[in-house]
Amino acid sequence: MSDLVILVGTVTGNAELVAEEMQYVLQDDHGLEVGITNMDSLDASGLTPGPVYLVVTSTYGVGDLPDNAQDFFDDVQAKGPDLSWMRFGVYALGDSVYNTTFCFGGKHFDELFTKLGATRLGPVAQHDASEDGLAEDCGAEWVKVWAKAHLAK
Ligand SMILES: Cc1cc2nc3c(=O)[nH]c(=O)nc-3n(C[C@H](O)[C@H](O)[C@H](O)COP(=O)(O)O)c2cc1C
Repeated sequence: MSDLVILVGTVTGNAELVAEEMQYVLQDDHGLEVGITNMDSLDASGLTPGPVYLVVTSTYGVGDLPDNAQDFFDDVQAKGPDLSWMRFGVYALGDSVYNTTFCFGGKHFDELFTKLGATRLGPVAQHDASEDGLAEDCGAEWVKVWAKAHLAK
């Protein structure tokens, strides 16, 4: 079983690159089993106890979720499962040009999972496409620190 499952919400692929880089560093450098799941292949029943979950998602429209994450989000919201067993992190991709909706995609998941009883591990991380370096580089650096704090074996 995976130690960590990364749930990817993306339109143009940045979040997927971030997830792949995170998987690479955690498996190769830290010996963790990491799975990657695109959210369009998921519904609420896909959230099962065992791994820690890490949401890596961008933001579109006016603070909306990427299309490939919307159905999954809606299904979890509609079914409202008890997620009190769940531990999760959020790495949110956005752009501060959209200053009133910056990184809202990740924030929406944080609010939903928390409302259903899940426990977030650490603060919501935010990648700013206008200010920060490459998302996959920043994500890989962030996840090393995050995993050390929260996934220590
Ligand atoms: C049409 C459009 C709308 C966007 N809306 C937002 C937004 O409301 N808030 C935000 O923080 N970023 C917004 N972004 C920025 C993206 O979330 C950011 O570029 C991200 O890195 C894209 O990642 P992806 O390739 O995984 O989809 C928007 C980008 C585009 C092109």
